[in-house]
Amino acid sequence: MKDGFFLITGTSKGIGEALAQKVLAKGNTVLGVSRNQSDTLKSTKYHHLSFDLTDTSRITQIMEKVSEIVDNQSVDFVCLVNNASAVEPLKSIEKCPLTEIESHVRIGLIVPMLLTSMFIQKFSDAEIGKKVVFISSGAAFTAVPGASIYCSSKAGINMFAQCIGLEQKNKEYGFEVVAIGPGMVDTSLQEAFRSKTSEEFASVGYFKQAFEAGKLQEPGRVAEKIYTILENKCEQGKYVSVGEV
Ligand SMILES: NC(=O)c1ccc[n+]([C@@H]2O[C@H](COP(=O)([O-])OP(=O)(O)OC[C@H]3O[C@@H](n4cnc5c(N)ncnc54)[C@H](OP(=O)(O)O)[C@@H]3O)[C@@H](O)[C@H]2O)c1
Repeated sequence: MKDGFFLITGTSKGIGEALAQKVLAKGNTVLGVSRNQSDTLKSTKYHHLSFDLTDTSRITQIMEKVSEIVDNQSVDFVCLVNNASAVEPLKSIEKCPLTEIESHVRIGLIVPMLLTSMFIQKFSDAEIGKKVVFISSGAAFTAVPGASIYCSSKAGINMFAQCIGLEQKNKEYGFEVVAIGPGMVDTSLQEAFRSKTSEEFASVGYFKQAFEAGKLQEPGRVAEKIYTILENKCEQGKYVSVGEV
């Protein structure tokens, strides 16, 4: 891949930023979407849209920007990476502010559904390589007390990936669909998970221990593995862990 176009959500930091760096280093074009902008993404092939993904009423603006970029250049591969995620609420459900629950599900589940719908529609007739990626988590399979909204959003995204994978499977120029579990990565999301008190977040000890035991991976290394997964063919809609790469 070198004339590829990648729409990546959550590129201001963490895994999304590291993945955008990797994708750009390979010669591709990236449109990154997040509220803040990374200082490290300086390439002329990097485009940024400052956007709050909780504002689903304006979501078509993202695809307008995609069109602005891809309609003026020839691309041999297009890829949507649904990476952005909220952290809060990290509390038992009766203590979760309703607004936090709703915002979290918008960013983690509804926006990926909306973007996937629009992205597949835009490129449905294009006879090029096409992929939709969901950055998921082992939390989709493991119930974490105090992180019910995060776990449920990830479980939902895995099922969504499976359904879309089956829809695309027998199309002549269908999209490849994959959900990727990055493992535990040293980002601000992990920092937020372990910064809680045990009264606030029942599972905080697990995240503190993992950090203290040096189990967190470096985002650049994880981005390399994600890129390897993107370069290879995957079983449609499957969940792939970077640990398998
Ligand atoms: N780190 C881990 O250990 C780990 C483990 C499993 C799965 N994951 C998954 O990996 C993905 C990336 O996580 P990360 O660890 O890199 O997290 P991170 O460092 O906290 O980065 C999250 C990204 O999402 C963006 N974002 C959050 N809220 C947003 C909003 N309202 N509008 C637009 N963008 C928003 C942030 O940008 P702004 O704040 O600038 O808007 C940021 O770029 C997530 O899906 C996460 O669930 C991470």
